[in-house]
Amino acid sequence: MVLERFRLAVLAASIAVLAPLAAAADDAQIGRGKYIVTFGGCNDCHTPGYFFGKPDASRFLGGSEVAFEIPGLGAFPGRNITPDKETGIGTWSQEQIVAALQGGVRPDGRTLAPIMPWHAFAHLTTDDALAIAAFLQSVPPVSNAVPGPFKPGDKVPMFLMRILPPGETAAAAPK
Ligand code: HEC
Repeated sequence: MVLERFRLAVLAASIAVLAPLAAAADDAQIGRGKYIVTFGGCNDCHTPGYFFGKPDASRFLGGSEVAFEIPGLGAFPGRNITPDKETGIGTWSQEQIVAALQGGVRPDGRTLAPIMPWHAFAHLTTDDALAIAAFLQSVPPVSNAVPGPFKPGDKVPMFLMRILPPGETAAAAPK
């Protein structure tokens, strides 16, 4: 009986010690993910306003209003990668996020266009890719349904980043 109580006390004490340790590990992982996301330019292609010189911090990673055209492949806007369940990647597991980052494969099986630099991200360590996934799951969800992607010939109802031959005039910023 005494031994039993002793065991319980040891168990309770170890839970009390281990729980904050686990939380600290999570914080460290999310911090690492934030560091890589900041460095990896995710904000550029995934936050609205960025390409107009005014990234909207209140909709961080909530999806771009600009699609990249790849001739012959289509046009691809940077998608909403916040944990919003309807319009973002809130239903994706960490493993599914890692598969998209490192293999360019979405949960629905579609391969992401190479303008999303997943060929480069394939070289992340698994720990770093998981840290990115943990950070993405920690940012505030943004409700923003990004249209597309668009096939060649589709009408694109949003801004388009396009490669043009020399001799064009530079566009003005939208009002
Ligand atoms: C040069 C622009 C660019 C950069 C930089 C970029 N992405 Fe992307 N990303 C895209 C585009 C465009 C798509 C959509 C491609 C498609 O639909 O085929 C995408 C798709 C994704 C997806 C899949 C979302 C979905 O719903 O299919 C995830 C996850 C993602 N990016 C995460 C990131 C992270 C994390 C970073 C930074 C480490 C990053 N991206 C950097 C352009 C970019």
